[in-house]
Amino acid sequence: MAIMAGKAYFIKSFPIGSVPKTKGELSFVILINLPFTGIYEFAKLRIYPKIYTFASSLKYSEMAEEIISKGENKKEKYEELLPQIASLLEGETDVVANMANVAAALKQVFGFFWVGFYVVKGDKLVLAPFQGPIACTRIGYGKGVCGTAWKEKKTQLVPDVDKFPGHIACSSDSKSEIVVPVILNGTVVAVLDVDSELLDSFDDTDARYLTMITEILAISFTA
Ligand code: SME
Repeated sequence: MAIMAGKAYFIKSFPIGSVPKTKGELSFVILINLPFTGIYEFAKLRIYPKIYTFASSLKYSEMAEEIISKGENKKEKYEELLPQIASLLEGETDVVANMANVAAALKQVFGFFWVGFYVVKGDKLVLAPFQGPIACTRIGYGKGVCGTAWKEKKTQLVPDVDKFPGHIACSSDSKSEIVVPVILNGTVVAVLDVDSELLDSFDDTDARYLTMITEILAISFTA
């Protein structure tokens, strides 16, 4: 376990004898905001049983090859997706491979119009793995929604892109957008951008869960 910037990252594996064709265990990356380190043990005690219950309820195998999504609403879909993303990324250190799978998983589960990454390279964000129509390849610091998320180190929720000063229209079909910075040790290393063809598609639920996904992915940038 490593503690970074007030967050505890730990990986827990559970034996799942009842799930056929698995290698005997499922692993989860668990991220918890800790106001102080004293509650770490307490947090583990509260969370491990819940993860174990979830893992035991799984009726599928080979999670790394297929994303399962049965949730009926956005929150349920994200909650189902998170451990699968953690499982997909576990053991793979290549950041491009991991960004590609995260973009594909999000596209599969939510059918987003455009979902993908821009990676910080020098003074620009450069297009990285994505799903959707072709996109602008380079974005400057502080430019557009992506460059603003980079500069401010904060998620940008844009209900109407036409009302966001400086929005960069890679596609005129994009109407609303959310951009979440991928932060490693306090530094923005990439951004996760999701676009919709509909106005006002994203809310705090997207912000919350997409942030968790970027926190899992950020670990890949250390490799
Ligand atoms: N709209 C983004 C540019 C990236 S594309 O939407 C894929 C922006 O304003 O930064």
